[in-house]
Amino acid sequence: MYFNKNKLFIEKVSCLKIAREFGTPSYCYSLNRLKNNIRNFQRNFKTISPLLCFSVKSNSNLQILKEIKKLGMGADVVSKGEMLQALKAGISTNKIVFSGVGKKTDELEFAIKKKILLINAESESEIYEIERLAKLKKTIVNIGIRLNPNIDAKTLKKISTGKHEDKFGLTEKAFLNVLKYFKDSNFVKIKCLSVHIGSQITDYKPYLKMINVLDKIIKKSKHLFDYIDLGGGMGIQYEKKTKLFNYKKYREIISNFLKKHKVKIIFEPGRSIIANCAMLLTQIIYIKNTSKKRFVILDAAMNDLMRPALYGSYHNIIPLVKSNKKNKKIHDFVGPICETTDKFLSVKGFQKLNEKDYVAILDVGAYGMSLSSNYNLRPKASEIMVEKKSFKVILKRQKLSNII
Ligand code: LLP
Repeated sequence: MYFNKNKLFIEKVSCLKIAREFGTPSYCYSLNRLKNNIRNFQRNFKTISPLLCFSVKSNSNLQILKEIKKLGMGADVVSKGEMLQALKAGISTNKIVFSGVGKKTDELEFAIKKKILLINAESESEIYEIERLAKLKKTIVNIGIRLNPNIDAKTLKKISTGKHEDKFGLTEKAFLNVLKYFKDSNFVKIKCLSVHIGSQITDYKPYLKMINVLDKIIKKSKHLFDYIDLGGGMGIQYEKKTKLFNYKKYREIISNFLKKHKVKIIFEPGRSIIANCAMLLTQIIYIKNTSKKRFVILDAAMNDLMRPALYGSYHNIIPLVKSNKKNKKIHDFVGPICETTDKFLSVKGFQKLNEKDYVAILDVGAYGMSLSSNYNLRPKASEIMVEKKSFKVILKRQKLSNII
């Protein structure tokens, strides 16, 4: 994304053109950026040749999944819906892993029927249920067991997953017990140890701690795992002041670990692959001035992009047409929804804006559209894919008649 003659472009297409042609709010993706992100991720971990399973919860658009598949990635899914979408995108079952604390019987049955690579179980009860279903079907099911390593990922409180107070995975003690108990099962084979400590992690040190915990527990268990699934979580630079994630350090830590353990590494990245590929184009409906502030009321709202309202997350906002004229007031960029948290950003000073102008909310490719809802009975936004000079709709804007 860049400015050319003061106009914002995505690849070789003017954002203004897209906004006018398809209306707003619209999620707008760069295919080139997506491809580069995947290639960079692959390059960063080339020496350990991991299996990469894209975390479908971060973005479940079918066309995007098809592109991701073309570049060799598998899928990390958390529901039957996501599994169906991954399969529809052509991702082969031997590259699909299924995570989640509350998989229902029909979801497990479906995963077993499809013979996906791994079901990553998160509780004793779930493993019993998988065993019961496997017995019924007279089949063997390969599973992973998710460990809760009790590690603080030092990320947003609401997206931490690796501490004992979080609902995810099994404690070390329960993990070891389960391994013993299911060691000789004829129906369930424990092939994988999985772990995921949180999201938007920008420091490699929590990962170092995590790997040390894994090293110890594997030694203690004396179990031979085929796979170690390290989850996702690598953070991106939403703000310039955020330091870049140190992939080299993380790779080195894993390389050392692999000297001691002959296993295949699985990663489940979501955000690091898709977040910075998209922006949300939105139009200013009204501008309301008060003595303290300038409220810029957009046609995008928290139902379109939940992250700021839900986690207080930062997303930068830029104009579609740049100007040198400034307004020094505090600008609150808000949506039309009847909630105070329906606010994207508050900044001191912004370029002069007028009603009907357009702005873009940045880095919204991950957990943007996938977290959107019909709150206030607002139809969901459209999604547009840009490739060089061409662009196309990859998800049509919902019509009111779809939801009424
Ligand atoms: N694997 C598992 C088991 C996960 O729970 C997650 C994300 C991922 C992989 C992918 O993590 P990533 O590479 O995207 O960080 N909605 C929140 C993020 C929630 C993440 C949930 N789990 C947000 O918008 O920040």
